[in-house]
Amino acid sequence: MDMNGYSGTPGSARVLIVDDEEVIRRLLYETLSPEYALASTETAEQAYDFIEEHNADVVLVDKNLPGLTGLDLLKQVKSRSPDVEVIVITGYASLESALDALRLGAYDYLLKPFDDISIVSEKVRRAIEKRELAKERNGLLEQLMVSNKELRSTQDFMRRSYLETLTSMITALEARDAYTRGHSDRVAEFSVAIGKELNLGPDRMERLRDGARLHDLGKIGVREDILNKVGRLSPEEFEHIKQHPIIGAEIIGKMENYRQLLPMIRNHHERWDGKGYPDGLAGEQIPLEARIVSVADCYDAMTSKRPYRDPLLLDSAMNILKEASGSQLDPTVVGAFFMAVQKSIVTSPLKN
Ligand SMILES: [Fe+2]
Repeated sequence: MDMNGYSGTPGSARVLIVDDEEVIRRLLYETLSPEYALASTETAEQAYDFIEEHNADVVLVDKNLPGLTGLDLLKQVKSRSPDVEVIVITGYASLESALDALRLGAYDYLLKPFDDISIVSEKVRRAIEKRELAKERNGLLEQLMVSNKELRSTQDFMRRSYLETLTSMITALEARDAYTRGHSDRVAEFSVAIGKELNLGPDRMERLRDGARLHDLGKIGVREDILNKVGRLSPEEFEHIKQHPIIGAEIIGKMENYRQLLPMIRNHHERWDGKGYPDGLAGEQIPLEARIVSVADCYDAMTSKRPYRDPLLLDSAMNILKEASGSQLDPTVVGAFFMAVQKSIVTSPLKN
């Protein structure tokens, strides 16, 4: 034995022979020594200690040993180091116990006496191949997990940067018009206040904030003269402006990661009574997040200054929301908004 507990070429596969009969140990040693690093013990107890200290790739163990049996050792090895392959040596008389060994996780069994000793080398070789393949597979799996993790953080980074890009597009869009400046941020703020009242989970709240902020993204595709028109829109102009949820959904729909924001962008102009656009959805057909953004959007539109009118005061705006509840707006969501207002989560209806 060398310092590693095994004798033979360092770096070759390690085979531990466990048999109480010296003749067998010697026979196996001679058969396997050209190819493997070898060690042997007489008992299962010694083998167990040896494996603890020096490890093994394959264990060849006689089923019948004094003290703990080969099957006891097999069980211990498989529970502590499942990667170690065990081949159980058993007499012809006990084929049944060979099957027991396989059921307990042995890689294979050998029948004693050995009629053809080359079978021993063959089985050990296959056990080692299996172990090598398992090692390789585990290595690949580990690599895959690392790459996956890297990919996820890259995706996360991309997702955030894209979101920031879209948000700055919104800011730029709103900056063109003094009257809508900050609108999207306020709608996000009100939506979150409503979401809290409705006990939405943290992931959903995050999506609600992002979606609410981007709800009017499609206005990027609306002609500026129509967007900023003071006074009544012609039917054609109104039809043009009604395209913005569809345009927004097209922009956001290109990013796989933003699919969950789609409803807020596409459906924030649906009405509870089904008379909204673009899909004419009604009641709970309208995704909840979109119903929340609708209420927040209406409230902010009413309490913001417009070129043609002053902002409404809180009470008037709340009265209008109450009237729209059940026709234009989801009553539950309006109720949640009232709760938020009562708790002063939403304050200061007066904005420039
Ligand atoms: Fe809108």
